[in-house]
Order: sequence, then structure tokens, then C-alpha cells
Amino acid sequence: MQTKNIRNFSIIAHIDHGKSTLADRLIENTGTLSQREMEAQVLDSMDLERERGITIKAQTVRLNYKAKNGETYELNLIDTPGHVDFTYEVSRSLAACEGALLVVDATQGVEAQTLANVYMALEHDLEIIPVINKVDLPSADPEKVKKEIEDVIGLDASDAILASAKTGIGIEDILEAIVERIPAPHGDDDKPLKALIFDSYFDAYKGVIAHVRLMDGKMKKGTKLKMMATGKVFDVTEVGCFRPAPVEVSELASGDVGYVAGSLKNVRDVRVGDTITTEENPTPEPLPGYRGVTPMVYCGLYPVDSADYDSLKDALEKLQLNDAALVFEAETSLALGFGFRCGFLGLLHMDVIQERLEREYKLKLITTAPSVIYHVHKTDGTMIAIDNPAKLPTPQEIDFMEEPFVKATVIVPNDYVGAVMQVSQDKRGEYKSMDYLDVNRVMLTYHIPLSEIIYDYFDILKSTTRGYASLDYELADYQPAKLVKLDILLNGEPVDALSTIVFADHAAYRGRQLAAKLKEIIPKQMFEIPIQAAVGSKIIARENVRAFRKDVLAKCYGGDISRKRKLLEKQKEGKKRMKAVGSVEIPQEAFMAVLKIH
Ligand code: GTP
Repeated sequence: MQTKNIRNFSIIAHIDHGKSTLADRLIENTGTLSQREMEAQVLDSMDLERERGITIKAQTVRLNYKAKNGETYELNLIDTPGHVDFTYEVSRSLAACEGALLVVDATQGVEAQTLANVYMALEHDLEIIPVINKVDLPSADPEKVKKEIEDVIGLDASDAILASAKTGIGIEDILEAIVERIPAPHGDDDKPLKALIFDSYFDAYKGVIAHVRLMDGKMKKGTKLKMMATGKVFDVTEVGCFRPAPVEVSELASGDVGYVAGSLKNVRDVRVGDTITTEENPTPEPLPGYRGVTPMVYCGLYPVDSADYDSLKDALEKLQLNDAALVFEAETSLALGFGFRCGFLGLLHMDVIQERLEREYKLKLITTAPSVIYHVHKTDGTMIAIDNPAKLPTPQEIDFMEEPFVKATVIVPNDYVGAVMQVSQDKRGEYKSMDYLDVNRVMLTYHIPLSEIIYDYFDILKSTTRGYASLDYELADYQPAKLVKLDILLNGEPVDALSTIVFADHAAYRGRQLAAKLKEIIPKQMFEIPIQAAVGSKIIARENVRAFRKDVLAKCYGGDISRKRKLLEKQKEGKKRMKAVGSVEIPQEAFMAVLKIH
């Protein structure tokens, strides 16, 4: 395919505005898959994504489209996730494109992540085509949405396309607009190879597969390639494109989007953001790298069965290849034994990784409560970053502490401004600004601790605004805060994995709530067990886990052995997600209890 007939584009949108549905329609309309092959939401191939109805991993697909001008075009569509946790995936995908479809729901209008995504697309100098989706719905108001796009985003919406990814309205217009309005890639096949790695995954048969966008040059089977950042040299065993399943092709040329597999067995050799060139005739300059990805939320992951430690390590390494934002390092807990401290972009990211470890790698895990990274300034003048509350130095060693704050942008209908202000204030947010988007909707910005966002800010925001609030946030800075470590003692012994860092003024309240919650969660034990919450040596709350002798077999009079066995198995099943800490059996929920108190 000649470069002039290639178009590389992404679809960007706020969550649920219809990206995946639109991607399906484009695939169907260009005949990339026949009706029979077409499964609902083809691009959301991970089981988890289908169940949750959200896109987690960005996927790529090549479409062939015969335009009205009679020419055939190669359209490379890179689907992007919409959840705030996965913003980095969007940025990576955008760097491989010349244009983007901006999908806005005709019944909802511009939302917080619509804005965040558009800013990112503009940073990458992309041609943006506004698409107003869901015009089939009776409550659709495309004219109002057009005006919002112009007033709030500042894009010309006069030629926005009105579409319904559900019924197929406007799909043909979108395909024509991609061909006419998005520029062809500029690249030179004769220049030395310069290709951007924008994603990668591990295939059990082919080894590490890198998703690439070729800026200049060509690559094919047998070429010796070099990763510019890591210096790794490898032989290409296969190049191909996504339809959406990987299909081998004879070569990839400048402007193309596809994949390359080679003698790459080590997951660390392929770095997302790195530039690939040839060993023989390297390009003098690598491409500018991606914006660095820094995890914002940390938690401990421990195998329930300590024999699974190596399998957990292996699984984390494999997942990391596919996910530049996942970081981990070994850690030990007095209570939980050997495990890993893992860093994530947010709670959804954390949940997804945990679920994938359990489903795809059949691991049973205990996860500890998430924590942000605190900056601890010590009395000796040094500063340490703490991602695990258990590692906090003693109060005598601490001069002061700082915690991360975010700039949170909330968009809501006018009627809920009061509710947003109340929730934000309760969560230690500092009001920054308020702008009217139109007569009915307002955009508020707050400076608020990340730890509050992680806990329950968005849940409360959603429930107090009847689901109308949309939220986007980005890390702003670190600010000093009065923080203390809240410890939990079981049977008089502190359980390191249950410690949290809390705002000092909230400590007493949280301690009482947490002790009460743990009493509910921890099953009755053989002996009465005290649960205490403490700050330093001061006990601030106490509850008891009651004693109870669990004699499940007592119910089975008579000799029905199979019934007995079933009951015993059921009891064993229940125990799998328990961790014995000293003499106390603690279930998984206990480690998350801190998230359940307000
Ligand atoms: P994420 O991938 O999670 O960011 O969501 P998304 O933006 O891909 O949204 P998705 O395609 O999953 O669509 C969200 C919901 O809107 C689904 O229930 C779709 O069936 C529905 N939907 C999408 N497009 C249309 C449309 O044009 N009309 C109507 N009525 N519903 C639509």
C-alpha cells in the first residue's frame, strides 16, 4: 500500500460514550470481518473487559476501505481505553496516529475525560474529527453538544458528524472523513528504519511481540534489528498486522502500523516507547520517548499459599510486559510472609491486575489496602518516599510528611454544585475554580489529596449527584499534611499488613470504624480475640472477635458420608482466602476494610 493511502487514527472519548461500539461498526462496515465472525465488541477481547463493559488494553486493527473516490485505503484503527486509570494507554496510542475521532455522546455532552483526551490529542498535533454519537436516542441534542464542543473545547464543530454506532447512522461519513481529513503519514521507505514501540505482549509460542508504528524505512523477516534504548539486537522472525487477529505480512513499510516478533524471549528487552532501527544502517536519532508513567497507588500482593510465590513473580513479569504502568518489587510482611509491593495507576488498574492474576494464572491472592506514596522528611534532614505504611519511621524520626495532591476536574449539572462542594470539602479538597459550560452544567476544579480520591471520593460523588458527576484528575504536587500511622493489633500483636496512614484529625474516627468493621469481617475464632486500633502507643478503639467453636459436622447426624464430605469441602473452600496471622484467621476482606469506612 502506498503511504498516501494509509490513515492511522484513534478513537477518543469519555467512558461509555461509545468508542468500542463505533470501532465494531467500522470493522463491520469495511468487511474486515464477516457478519458471522463479528462478535459483539470484538476489540474488547479480554474476558474481563467484556464482563465489565470497559476497554482496558488498547487494541489495533487494520481496515481496508474503498472510498467514494474509487481508491482503496488502509485504515489503522487503534482503540483506546476510556477510564481515567488508563490514560497512559491513550497517550501511547496517540503517538502512533495522525488523527483521532472524538466521540461525544449526544445525550451527555462533553465530560471530564472528553477534555483530558482532547488535550492529549492536541499535544500530539492530531487532526480531530468530532463525532456526535447516539443520535438515535430520543434525548439526543446534537446542536447543544456541537455548541459545547466549540465553547468548552474550542474546536470547530460545524462539520461534526452525527452518528449512531448502534444503528449505523453516519458510519459511511466517518470513513470518508477519515480518508479526506486525516493526513497520510509522512515517511520515507528509503530512509533508515525508525519505528515506535507503542505496546507489547508476550505470546507463549512467538515470544515477545512488539506493536510498532513505522515512521521511516521498512522491516521484514530476517532483518537484524536493534532497540535503541536497551541496545538489544534481534532477528525478525515475523512481521504482521492486526485484522484484529495477528496476520503475517511480507513486510511493513513507513507509515504502517503492525507487529514484529523476533528472537525476544526476555520481557525486559522490549521497552514501550523505545525506537527500533536496523543494526546495519541505524537512524541517527531515536524518536522522542513517551511521557513517563508513574504508578500512583501501591498495595501488597501475597499468595495465600506461600508455595505460589515463584508463580506469582512469573505472572507479574508477564503482565508487566503488556503494561508499562505496572511495577513490583519483592517485600515481606510479618503477617503475610513473602509477597510483592505493586504499583498501579489507580484502583481499577489494581483490580484488573489482581483479577487477571487470579483468572489467567490461577493464583489465590491476599491484597492489602492501597496506599499512595508519602514523602517523609526525617529529622536528620533526609527525605524518603514511603509506599507501604508499615515502613513508616517512628514519630521521633519524622520531622514532617507530605502527601500527593491532584487537580480534580468535576463536571456536573448546576443542581449538584452544592453536593460536589460538600463532598470535596469533607475530603479535604481546596476549591479552585468554577466555570459554566452552558446554562445547565458547571465545571469545578479542586486541589485534593490523592488518598481521598483513592478511597471513596468518586463513589460518594456519584451517589450524591445521582450518577451525573464526571471526574478527571491529574497529579498536581506534594503538600505537607498532618498524617499519622493507624495500627491494628490482633490479640495484642500489631498486624503490619493492616496498618494505614491517615489524616491525624480523622484517626480516632477511622480507628473506631475500622475496629468495628473488622469485628464484622473476622469470623468467630476458637478464643475471644481483642481487636485494637492504635496510633503510636495510644489505643483509640477496641472490639472483640467472639469465640465460637465451628462444628459444622454436628448438623449431620447419621452417617451420610458424602454430605459430610461436601460440608468439609465447603469449609475448606471458605478458608482458601484466609491467611493465618498468629493464631487468628484473617479473610481477604479484612485487608480492604479500610476502604469500606467513610
Ligand atoms: P469504554 O470502552 O469502557 O471506554 O466505553 P466505550 O466508550 O467503548 O463505550 P461502549 O462502546 O462500550 O458503549 C457504551 C454503551 O453505549 C453500550 O451500552 C452501547 O451499547 C451504547 N451505545 C454505543 N453507541 C450507541 C449508539 O449510537 N446509540 C445507542 N443508543 N447506544 C449506544
